[in-house]
Parts: sequence; structure tokens; C-alpha cells
Amino acid sequence: MAKLLFFFLSIVIFLSLLPGDLAITAGTEDGSEQWGYVEVRPKAHMFWWLYKSPYRVEDPSKPWPVILWLQGGPGASGVGLGNFLEIGPLDGNLKPRNSTWLRKADLLFVDSPVGAGFSYVDDVRDSSLPVKTDVEAAIDLTTLLKEVFNGNESLQQSPLYVVAESYGGKFAVTLGLSALKAIEAGELKLKLGGIALGDSWISPEDFVVCNSISTSTYTIFFLVRMFHYFYTLKCQVKTFIKVSLLNCKLSWGPLLKAVSRIDNNGLSASNSVAQMIKQQLSDGQFVEAEHSFFLLEEVIGNYSNYVDFYNFMLDFDNDPIEGSTNVALKRTSTKTYSKYLDSSSRILSTSDDLPTLMDGVIREKLKIIPTNVSWGGQPFVFQALIPEFMKPRIKDVDELLAKGINVTVYNGQARSYRATIEPHAHSLSYMQLPPKQHL
Ligand SMILES: *[C@@H]1O[C@H](CO)[C@@H](O)[C@H](O)[C@H]1NC(C)=O
Ligand SMILES: *[C@@H]1O[C@H](CO)[C@@H](O)[C@H](O)[C@H]1NC(C)=O
Ligand SMILES: *[C@@H]1O[C@H](CO)[C@@H](O)[C@H](O)[C@H]1NC(C)=O
Ligand SMILES: *[C@@H]1O[C@H](CO)[C@@H](O)[C@H](O)[C@H]1NC(C)=O
Ligand SMILES: *[C@@H]1O[C@H](CO)[C@@H](O)[C@H](O)[C@H]1NC(C)=O
Repeated sequence: MAKLLFFFLSIVIFLSLLPGDLAITAGTEDGSEQWGYVEVRPKAHMFWWLYKSPYRVEDPSKPWPVILWLQGGPGASGVGLGNFLEIGPLDGNLKPRNSTWLRKADLLFVDSPVGAGFSYVDDVRDSSLPVKTDVEAAIDLTTLLKEVFNGNESLQQSPLYVVAESYGGKFAVTLGLSALKAIEAGELKLKLGGIALGDSWISPEDFVVCNSISTSTYTIFFLVRMFHYFYTLKCQVKTFIKVSLLNCKLSWGPLLKAVSRIDNNGLSASNSVAQMIKQQLSDGQFVEAEHSFFLLEEVIGNYSNYVDFYNFMLDFDNDPIEGSTNVALKRTSTKTYSKYLDSSSRILSTSDDLPTLMDGVIREKLKIIPTNVSWGGQPFVFQALIPEFMKPRIKDVDELLAKGINVTVYNGQARSYRATIEPHAHSLSYMQLPPKQHL
């Protein structure tokens, strides 16, 4: 309680409505935090929150970086999940997080696409407002960056690193290209430092059909290690090493078979769905492929007594993030992945939960959240992006590399994963080889 009180007292809000543009900005009195809305398109409002690092080191030869964190989903809130559950200065109980990435950079969280977290559209029935492609999402983000960076010369001194998790990886690479274009056109004043993709969804086929179980939520468990990783590398983004093409192994099923989570029947059932997905993807049937992806989850769930897709060593029920509330749900719903999005925002490791925090103390602190906007992913965000969901973004990585932008890929996996997984598949032709102790 005393802590909460302190949390309130230490904050004084200033509000400024910048004349001429459709942005609203607020922040703490000491200037260590700023947040605001940018109307990225008419009736589409994107929320951002910037933390200045107390650990900043002034070194002209190595300017202090800003990290833009992009959450997955599509539709999960970076301002909520990334900030309070992963890398921000405070955890979900508002206790200081020792491993906060503020130790290495300023942090910019955004609720992207519009409709995620505190971002909102004025009319939820207007189907023209949600973004329908990764590129549209990137254009909105670029508009936001222009608003946040262009008027702030001190911010422009910091190279911007875009770090993304899961589906956010697709936004990160499209944003990288969109931002570069805007920079070249003189419309955006910032220096793009690099891009890092954590458990990214840039190649769904590799992750679902050919490579391994997707491990987006592993990031949450993997963060401490990631932090050490950034720490050791001094936030330097490493170059990629091109690896040779490998054969597709249809390995979601084989992996689970290898660790005895499914039997031969399960293996052949899942392999046949995986083959179907592969075919649908090669025929350009992306919506069908997305449905088959959910079917594959259901098949594997049935044959494995509901293995936890984010950690094959657990059953769905035991997942500290996903399992505890929704045991009943698991046997009725097939949409495990989208369900995960809901449940992950509902659960914290303690009795607190994130929506209560975000719509309670945090909303009061921020002051500028409209009363009829509640925190959390609007279902329309995910729905509108379904046709995009299974499309790869590998070529965007190639383009970024060709333009001299460093791209880092890291996939957070338990050590036991490493033994069974081919770390790369046919079309994922780049991967980083970080120091072994960090794997
Ligand atoms: C916090 O992190 C620092 C730097 O990584 C480390 O030296 C220190 O031991 C950590 N403190 C705790 C309480 O974990
Ligand atoms: C919130 O209320 C305002 C003012 O009444 C209205 O214009 C807006 O459309 C509402 N927004 C949502 C998301 O319902
Ligand atoms: C520029 O951004 C920094 C945060 O990095 C902030 O402290 C400062 O107040 C901003 N300046 C303006 C003019 O908004
Ligand atoms: C990319 O990474 C390499 C190796 O860490 C580094 O030497 C180079 O300066 C980086 N390039 C950019 C544009 O940051
Ligand atoms: C999975 O099991 C449930 C419950 O037994 C059943 O209704 C469903 O049809 C099964 N799904 C598949 C794809 O086998």
C-alpha cells in the first residue's frame, strides 16, 4: 500500500495538446516518462509510452539507444504485457524489475496495431479502421514515430532499435522498411539502429509446418537470459550468417513425437494437417491455412492430452501464464493461439491481474485514456489480420539486410529444445549464431 501511495505521489501530470496536429502528450513532472496518443489516421488513435533510462551513459562515440518494443498477437498490448510482464521498469505488482532493459536503453512501448491495449478507434463498427495487413500496421507506426521523433532533437540522437516478439516480428520488419523510406524522403528524423526479432512469426510455414513448435510466450520466461545477452553484447546487433538450405522436416509433429508427447497415430494425424497447410500456403490460400493452423493445434491437443504449445514440457493446465484460469476453456475452444492472447493478459504470477492493473492504477496515472476505452486487445485487431496471419515476411528481412540494417533473430527455447530442433528451415535463410552460453 505504501508503495502504491508512493507511486501516486511521485507523479505529476502535465498535459499538452499540441496545436495543429492531432497528438496529445503527457508525462511525469521529472520528464523521465512521457506518453500520449497520436491520431495515426482519422478516427484511429495509437497510444505510446516512453521511458527515459536512469542508467543513461553519455558517450558521444556510442549514443544511448532507444528500444521500440512491439508485442505479438496481433493485438497484444506492448504497453501492458511488454512493459509490465517483460522488460519495463516495474513488474505486474509495480515492484522494480532488476532486469529491466532500461539498464541498456530508453524504452518506447506502443499499443499497435490500433485497437490493441489503450489504442482505439472512434467507431468499432467501421470496418475501414482496423489494419488489414502488416504493411498498413507499419505505416501507422511510422506515422507515430514521426510524431514522437521529429520534434525532439535529443531523441533523434539516439539510434532506434526495434525489438519485437512473436507476431510483432512481422510488424518490425515492415516498419523497418517503411521507416527507412520515410527517413530517405526526409519525412522521419531518426536513425534506425537495427531490428531484433524474438520468437518471431516471420515465417509461419517454418514454425508450424517445417520447423518446430512456435514459442512466442517463451520470451516471457526467456527474458532474463535475453537481458544478459544484450548486456554481454553491449546492445550491439550482430550480423547474420547465411546458413545453407535444409530440407523441410514437418517437425512440429516429429518434435512432439521425439519427446513422447504424441504417439505414431498423433504423428501421422498432425503430419497430414501440416501437409495440408503446406499445400494451402503454396496455393496462396492464407485464410484456409490459418484455419488449418488452428486445426493442427486441435489435433495435437487431442493426441497429447493438451500439450502446452508454448512449452512442450508442460500440459496446457500447468502453464503458469496460460493454464491456471482456462482449464475449462481448453477442451471446448479450438482457437488456442487467440485464446492465449486473452488469457496471457488476464494472468500474472500473483493474485493481481493485468487488466485490473491497467484499467485501475495505470489508467489513473496516465490521465489521458478516454473513459469509454478499456485496456485490452479488441478482437477486431486479430480478425482483420487473419488473411495476413500465415503470410511470410522473410523477404523483408532480406531487403533490410540489403539496405545495411542489422537484423538479429533469437528464438527463446529451453535448453532441452535445442537438442531436438533444427534451428533453421528451408526458407529461413538467415540466422544469428550468438555465443553458446546464451542459448
Ligand atoms: C540486479 O542486476 C545487477 C546487474 O545485472 C546485478 O549486479 C545485481 O546483483 C542484481 N540484483 C538482484 C537483487 O538481483
Ligand atoms: C467514446 O466516446 C466518444 C464521445 O462520446 C465517441 O466519440 C467515441 O466514438 C467513443 N469511443 C468508443 C471507442 O466507443
Ligand atoms: C524529447 O524526449 C525526451 C525523452 O527522451 C524528453 O525528456 C524531452 O522532454 C523531449 N523533448 C520535447 C521537446 O518533447
Ligand atoms: C551491424 O553489426 C556489425 C557487427 O556487430 C557492426 O559492426 C555494424 O556497425 C552494425 N551496423 C549498423 C548499421 O549498425
Ligand atoms: C478433438 O477432440 C474433441 C473431443 O473429443 C472432438 O470433439 C474433436 O472433434 C477432436 N478434434 C479433432 C480435430 O480430432
